[in-house]
Amino acid sequence: MPAPQISRTVSPGDTVILMPDSTPFLPALLETRLGEQRPLATGKVRDIYAAGDAALLFIATDRISAFDCILGSGIPDKGRILTQLSLFWFDHLAAIVPNHLLSASTAALPPEFQPFASELAGRSMLVRKADMFPVECVVRGYLSGSGWKDYQATGPTGHKVCGIPLPAGLRESDQLPEPLFTPAAKNHTGHDENISFDTMIARIGAPAAEHLRALTLAIYRRATAHAATKGLLLADTKFEFGTVPGPDGQPQIILADEVLTPDSSRYWPAATYAPGGPQPSFDKQYVRDFLETILWNKQPPAPELPDDIIRNTRAKYLEAFHLLTGRPSLDT
Ligand SMILES: Nc1ncnc2c1ncn2[C@@H]1O[C@H](COP(=O)(O)OP(=O)(O)O)[C@@H](O)[C@H]1O
Ligand SMILES: [Mg+2]
Repeated sequence: MPAPQISRTVSPGDTVILMPDSTPFLPALLETRLGEQRPLATGKVRDIYAAGDAALLFIATDRISAFDCILGSGIPDKGRILTQLSLFWFDHLAAIVPNHLLSASTAALPPEFQPFASELAGRSMLVRKADMFPVECVVRGYLSGSGWKDYQATGPTGHKVCGIPLPAGLRESDQLPEPLFTPAAKNHTGHDENISFDTMIARIGAPAAEHLRALTLAIYRRATAHAATKGLLLADTKFEFGTVPGPDGQPQIILADEVLTPDSSRYWPAATYAPGGPQPSFDKQYVRDFLETILWNKQPPAPELPDDIIRNTRAKYLEAFHLLTGRPSLDT
């Protein structure tokens, strides 16, 4: 068997990172090169390879982005955490919505990927290639992020979030009277643009728009209930859906992409929840705070991260994984 050719692009200092308990971990995986094969597409986090006509190999690297820019350092194991959280949620949500997962087992990898099985284990899945809707299905249960900005900006003419009227007097991080579906157009420049439900209908048609809204709200309610049992609030999250040929030959809507990870969702600890300001979250907060302190202009090239920021961010992602799945360790 040839030696794995997957490359680990490491930033200076990564190799000696130790966890607080002195557990070493492998350097971050920043890009993949699977022998002769080239990715069909690379996103901010994922490298995607063709696997036959109807499937994709969906690999989560350890890249981390902030302000829509991929940073100079990765977070070791982040791709494993995101993949294994998505797998947990696909399973948890299976009764509500079909999804793109074909297999996360390396035994199911096509022969051309077998030499890389040990690197791919735990961070990749074979998925059905879907015709993706050009819309991000965002749902907000609490007032935060761009929703809070929108609420404040529209205050003088009646408070709204993405055109949906809301009562006056809400504070940052307050729970909304009911969860709001606030779609965004996937924009190739990186910045997604909030759109109204009517615009979504104009782009993908009313039946699909209504179906995606209903699915998004149903998944959010289910996920919120699970998170609550783990002491977490799910403030907001984002799903991507696509279609594949169904058993009857008609297009069938499936849940694709990553699901309910700290990259796509805002989770807050319920115990310290205190509306009236921002809440601590399980994602890139340390990274964003660091980037603010160094006064980076948010244009490429993005800076590297100091070891303590990498370590603390990794610990936050792992904490979300442990809390949500109840599992003591990652599969490798
Ligand atoms: N089943 C699928 N079929 C085709 N494309 C998919 C599928 N699931 C997710 N995608 C796309 O793959 C990409 C995931 O890579 P990611 O690094 O998250 O990209 P991004 O920078 O756009 O967030 C996204 O563009 C997403 O729309
Ligand atoms: Mg993505």
